[in-house]
Amino acid sequence: MEKLDILNKLPAAVSWQDDTLTLLDQTRLPLETVFERQETAEQVWQSILQLKVRGAPAIGVAAAFGLCVAMQPFIGASIDDFMDALQDQANYLNSSRPTAVNLGWAMRRMSNVAKNENFNDSHQLYARLVTEAKRIHAEDIELCEGMAMHGAPLIKAGMGVLTHCNAGSLATTGLGTATAPMYLAHANGVEFSVFADETRPLLQGARLTAWELAQAGIDVTLITDNMAGHMMATGKIDLVITGTDRVAANGDVANKIGTLGVAIMAKYYNIPFYVACPQSTFDFDTADGSGIPIEEREADEVTCFASARVATIDTKTRNPAFDITPNALVTGFITDQGIVKAPFKENLRQIFST
Ligand code: MRU
Repeated sequence: MEKLDILNKLPAAVSWQDDTLTLLDQTRLPLETVFERQETAEQVWQSILQLKVRGAPAIGVAAAFGLCVAMQPFIGASIDDFMDALQDQANYLNSSRPTAVNLGWAMRRMSNVAKNENFNDSHQLYARLVTEAKRIHAEDIELCEGMAMHGAPLIKAGMGVLTHCNAGSLATTGLGTATAPMYLAHANGVEFSVFADETRPLLQGARLTAWELAQAGIDVTLITDNMAGHMMATGKIDLVITGTDRVAANGDVANKIGTLGVAIMAKYYNIPFYVACPQSTFDFDTADGSGIPIEEREADEVTCFASARVATIDTKTRNPAFDITPNALVTGFITDQGIVKAPFKENLRQIFST
């Protein structure tokens, strides 16, 4: 996709060079662009927990390279010791955040390579892990292009498209998921506008989505979360596209807290609600949304706004980071393999069975 030079304009969320993992610290965007070298498994674990790297696909890629970093001290150990440590480190990194299935998926894929192939020594095994992490990275870029191709035709001239949180380039290592069709439609000369929900409490929409779409020259308007209904009621929104952290086998969707409300409102106003995600975000082992673990985060994120305290420290809070949108509210999935419509249980299995 040569037309899309947006990736040259945006900082890479994850990069790997000369056996070194570098993450963009997204908590400091858009005011500062700071890259942080990751030297230990603990540092990678903290970077995922603190959302320095965030967004389901980017977490998967970062953890795959993070596992390579974690295994560097074990190069030279016996194969058995290396394998034991690999399992421990993969389990450890997998415990950093619970909801995005891409994290566990990447850790399993890395461990399986080690288990299913033969190696002469731990140097060779480490090199193979690096190759696998690079493959996961390269595939992520390609999967985003697939979503761009299949999703772009949904965006027509003059449309208003609402998105929630950041399912953009910053949340992947490519064109993003929800934003991939937007970038391609824009490159094809389609004129449309995007409304980005600010996404309380951590403001991924305001800090990341509004910023990255503006860098690409896309007409983007930032709104607070409680304005989405008004925008729909007054005819500004023709289409909703969000990302997701995990899709259960029946098509129930876990995504950033607030997505459920957006989906309910879209249904009320007859606005198509699409979810964009790569194959690695489908979890066929979880029957429905009730089986998806929802991350509960620190109270400070709710009692503060952009680090300024807005409620007393002892205020009772809840802070679920994600919610579950029932499949009945989903118009379709924009996947790297094509658009999938209901019945989801059958059609999702079918499209990914090959
Ligand atoms: O808590 P975050 O910022 O990691 O949440 C991210 C989201 O909810 C995204 O919508 C989702 O991961 C899809 S990213 C392509």
